[in-house]
Amino acid sequence: MPVPTHRPDDSDRSSTPPQNVGRAAVAELQHCDDLTRATTPLASDRLIDGHGRVHRSLRISVTDRCNIRCFYCMPEEDVSFVAHDEVLTFEEIARVVSILAAVGIRDVRLTGGEPLVRRDLPKLVEMLSQIEGVEDLAMTTNAILLPRFAAPLREAGLKRLNISLDTLNEATFRRITRRAGIGRVLDGIDAAIAAGFESIRLNALAIRDLTEAEITPLVEFATSRSLTMRFIEYMPLDAERRWDRSQVLSGEEILARLRARFGELRPVAPPQESQPARDFELVDVAADATGRLPRVGLIRPVTAPFCGACDRLRLTADGTIRNCLFSQREWGLKRLLRDGHSDAELLRQVRAAVAAKELGHLISRPGFVQPERSMFQIGG
Ligand code: 5AD
Ligand code: SF4
Repeated sequence: MPVPTHRPDDSDRSSTPPQNVGRAAVAELQHCDDLTRATTPLASDRLIDGHGRVHRSLRISVTDRCNIRCFYCMPEEDVSFVAHDEVLTFEEIARVVSILAAVGIRDVRLTGGEPLVRRDLPKLVEMLSQIEGVEDLAMTTNAILLPRFAAPLREAGLKRLNISLDTLNEATFRRITRRAGIGRVLDGIDAAIAAGFESIRLNALAIRDLTEAEITPLVEFATSRSLTMRFIEYMPLDAERRWDRSQVLSGEEILARLRARFGELRPVAPPQESQPARDFELVDVAADATGRLPRVGLIRPVTAPFCGACDRLRLTADGTIRNCLFSQREWGLKRLLRDGHSDAELLRQVRAAVAAKELGHLISRPGFVQPERSMFQIGG
């Protein structure tokens, strides 16, 4: 059965002006009125939502296509993808990033679909790495194409990688991705290590009756390579809309299993408050050759939402801004980009998205409605 999938049109999910700029933001605007412009954006220039959250992170989906079909993200068959000419060009993406870097966006992450199925991705990385203000440039990938692209990406200026790794087992990999080839993923991880990124993290979804058996082998695999393994609670963003709360393997349950297997877990202070992961050191496990204790992390969007410190915006492959994974609205940029609008007009549209940002998602509340678009169309 064909899955009803979002059709891109920029018609306007979008152009409502900001109605609801928060009091904190307004106070800052007034406070900064008489200051002269500096290279560092003034507080008044930054992207501050109605709840006082300053936005410094942009996740860019460069394609909605993917070379596998994880059940928690994509439909198995009949996927309807954005037409090629509706996908933002590298130049359009770089323009958006330049505009947003001037108002405080510092961290850029490329996502998909699978970002590496987009042709010439290292070229985009190179363009983005040259934009003033962009401090961190990272990518989330399934690793399958890393044997070919790890070195060129690193050379182009990519700093960090998150690699999705839910299992080491071929049969389980097939069950999850509906494709063969865990070996390709493992080769990709080796290629990433060889390319010398500043950090590589492995992410596994935490899904009941699937992940329990993977926890120990995954942590041992990551530890043997001095990588951090993180578990992410399964969110209601699957295209087939089969998510059910009972399928979420909670962070607490994972912690209990980790303790039973590896002993004491010592919490590590997060480097930034906005970081959704909580990491732990396995203090009873031997340190690696560099003296670093093995680390595991939990990302608990369902049982411990981190919305209060959220500093993220998203740009979809077809050129809309989303202010949240679970947003029911999008703010179109593509028409503005293609119809000759100014940077100021583009920024106004982004500010409208920021101003309308809700305090948090409602996954655990009655009446929660899964967004129309699923993970591969939004960007992980
Ligand atoms: N819930 C949580 N995380 C998801 N991802 C994809 N779908 C979901 C979901 N339903 C994450 C995967 C992958 C990244 C691209 O997005 O972990 O690593
Ligand atoms: Fe592809 Fe990532 Fe979605 Fe899996 S989660 S289908 S690898 S985009």
